[in-house]
Amino acid sequence: MIIGVLNQKGGVGKTTIATNLAAVIAKAGYRVLLVDADPQGSSMAWSSVREAEPLFPVISMAKPTLHRDLPEIAADYDVVIVDGAPRVNDLGRAAILASDIVLMPVQPSPYDVWASADTVQLVKEAQQFKENIKPVFVVNRKIVNTAIGRDVRNALSQFDFPILPVEICQRVGFAESASQGLAVIETDPKSDAAQEISQLAAQLVDMKAKPKTKKERKAA
Ligand SMILES: Nc1ncnc2c1ncn2[C@@H]1O[C@H](COP(=O)(O)OP(=O)(O)OP(=O)(O)O)[C@@H](O)[C@H]1O
Ligand SMILES: [Mg+2]
Repeated sequence: MIIGVLNQKGGVGKTTIATNLAAVIAKAGYRVLLVDADPQGSSMAWSSVREAEPLFPVISMAKPTLHRDLPEIAADYDVVIVDGAPRVNDLGRAAILASDIVLMPVQPSPYDVWASADTVQLVKEAQQFKENIKPVFVVNRKIVNTAIGRDVRNALSQFDFPILPVEICQRVGFAESASQGLAVIETDPKSDAAQEISQLAAQLVDMKAKPKTKKERKAA
């Protein structure tokens, strides 16, 4: 399964969610690959500052041919997570086409909702070539005890794409762990941040299913 964490808007939390999601799914015993599809190379930078044993490999593939190149590599993994680039349309298009699920983080701000229209448009265009792409929004950086998370859900409903029930809140632990190339599930597994990312993983992947053997993956 390929999950693209994508949004043409910059700074919405694609890299934060991609790295943390990959860590949660890898810790649950699945073979995970993180693909950095952003020329900024943020996921690569995250993995290069890491001193701890890697939980999963990270490769750089910021290419408009991603949708053609990735499936063969993905066959060796249970879950591939793509950390997308902001703004560049041909990279965005390729990453959407490569994905089974397009996970779109959106911050609770009207600017982010308005800017999501570009990504929604790219997803709809891609669905004409690949019908079964499943787009979903996730609210990221919600401020605890504010109603703005609910407002953003209402505003996003105009796009007719599902909005995941889980909301990722604004938490300093994300930046703190990233500075060491770690995920929140490693630095503070009991934290609210770790729990929210675990819920996010459970809403995307059937975490109770047994990871496939290499033979089963090849046959799929
Ligand atoms: N839930 C969160 N709580 C606190 N800080 C967050 C959260 N999500 C993201 N951030 C912070 O917001 C900034 C942007 O996040 P990130 O780099 O993950 O976004 P991005 O969408 O990958 O950006 P770009 O479009 O440049 O690739 C970072 O400083 C990150 O630490
Ligand atoms: Mg990024």
